[in-house]
Parts: sequence; structure tokens; C-alpha cells
Amino acid sequence: MEQNTQPTIQVTASGKVVVTNAKDILLLDSEGNSIAKRNRFSLCNCGKTQDIPFCDGAHKD
Ligand code: FES
Repeated sequence: MEQNTQPTIQVTASGKVVVTNAKDILLLDSEGNSIAKRNRFSLCNCGKTQDIPFCDGAHKD
């Protein structure tokens, strides 16, 4: 199987939003400021995170 190297946003079965190969993706806050990120990260879509905009696992609580 060929490894995916394209920037990808995947919504998992549980609703988690996983971003991979994010090196060239610009992640901005509501004011247009760049947010530091890793090459792979998950975005929070439940509103419980203490690390906006990233998922910190608080959705499990
Ligand atoms: S989706 Fe919100 S903390 Fe994980």
C-alpha cells in the first residue's frame, strides 16, 4: 500500500478531525494569526478542550 503524503483531513468514525501531512497547511486563529502545529494533529469539535483548537482528549470526560 502506498503511503499517503498529501495534506489530509479525515473525520473518524467517532467524529474526531485528524489532520495529517500538515507541514504546508496554514492554521489560523479567528484573528488570522498563525497557530503553531505539528505535522499531525487532531482538531477539537466538541468544545471541551483546554488547548483550542486541538483535541486534548477532554471529549472522553
Ligand atoms: S474533540 Fe474536543 S477534546 Fe477531543
